[in-house]
Amino acid sequence: MKFFIDTANLDQIKDAQDMGVLDGVTTNPSLMAKEGITGHDNILKHYVDICNIVDGDVSAEVISTDVEGMIREGEALAELHDQIVVKLPMIKDGVKACKYFSDKGIKTNVTLVFSPGQAILAAKAGATYVSPFLGRLDDISTDGLNLISEIRHIYDNYGFETQILAASIRHTMHVVDCAKIGADVMTGPLSSIEGLLKHPLTDIGLAKFLADYKKGN
Ligand code: E4P
Repeated sequence: MKFFIDTANLDQIKDAQDMGVLDGVTTNPSLMAKEGITGHDNILKHYVDICNIVDGDVSAEVISTDVEGMIREGEALAELHDQIVVKLPMIKDGVKACKYFSDKGIKTNVTLVFSPGQAILAAKAGATYVSPFLGRLDDISTDGLNLISEIRHIYDNYGFETQILAASIRHTMHVVDCAKIGADVMTGPLSSIEGLLKHPLTDIGLAKFLADYKKGN
């Protein structure tokens, strides 16, 4: 399972990269705004800064909602760095743009996916990644993990190569549950990755080992 971090915060990206477990980064316009990154040139520079920290794919989302605009923006984003993945919304023009980029060999991430049908369309259009938003489904009392399972089942039925990128991860157990289901990738906040470290028996055991070592030295 690949681990992506879902942030535009450079310190957090460095932190995860330094752990040696990071495979990529996802961003979206809200995450960029949260870090105060505004203005076209600053946004593009920030994507390059992220690419220079992480060894792996960096999703950069288009703002246009028409296919011509998405293609124009996506081509400019892809030119920035060879790690850039063009992130496109799951709308009709997004599907068309996805097909355009996949035919050109440019990586894509189809985002804002909330149903198995949308995931089928993304795969048919040749998306590199499909991003089902499990946390946002959970937020409205719907089973987000079930969506990941359904997409896994459908993609396996047909051998679709699109990778399932479980997005909108809220906590550590989402990561573990997505791994059980067989999501190819998860993208979550740093806390969801660091939470995997935690077990009280690890802390108790380590404290005892260190105390016993001190007794004999
Ligand atoms: C990532 O690609 C998505 O944009 C992100 O995971 C959405 O997460 P949120 O639902 O916590 O905003």
